[in-house]
Amino acid sequence: MLKMHIFLVGMAGAGKTSLGRRLATNLNIPFVDTDQRISEIMGMSVIEIFQTLGEQFFRNAEAGVLMELIGKPPCVVSTGGGLPTVRENVLLMQNHGVIIHVDRPLDQILSDIKMDRRPTLAGGSHENVIDQYNERIGHYRACADYRLDNSHGFAIGLQTLTQMVENMR
Ligand code: S3P
Repeated sequence: MLKMHIFLVGMAGAGKTSLGRRLATNLNIPFVDTDQRISEIMGMSVIEIFQTLGEQFFRNAEAGVLMELIGKPPCVVSTGGGLPTVRENVLLMQNHGVIIHVDRPLDQILSDIKMDRRPTLAGGSHENVIDQYNERIGHYRACADYRLDNSHGFAIGLQTLTQMVENMR
């Protein structure tokens, strides 16, 4: 039985949500995606929240979702790409689980990232993604306990990630 939460951090388009959902199934524990949880609570899409309530509101909501998870049984948590840029969020994750950086090379992210669903990149160009990657990669590296090399496709990524977590038990 896993004793702590597994937090997946990384750049938008790194594969956190698709890997996280399947990891949770493999481990037979719940899966939470912070973006989806915020949308569910607010009854609005992430884009609508950014447009009507602003980024700061969304960042506070991310912290709220982390707080909500504390004290609950272990689950796999896929976090929004900006969540680990807030120091308090990093401390919460470090104190209540293990942080895994889903690390996918920038060229692979650029080849299939959907910008229209991501308000911090909406209407943006590849340059915006490159800038955001360069701004954030240091945050992911600094907070993570483990790094998952997600450069070899979904099946290998999932297998490696599952093994990584199995070895923590
Ligand atoms: C954001 C990333 C998104 C989502 C929101 C803001 C960001 O999550 O939380 O659009 O600031 O990078 P994903 O990393 O799942 O795309």
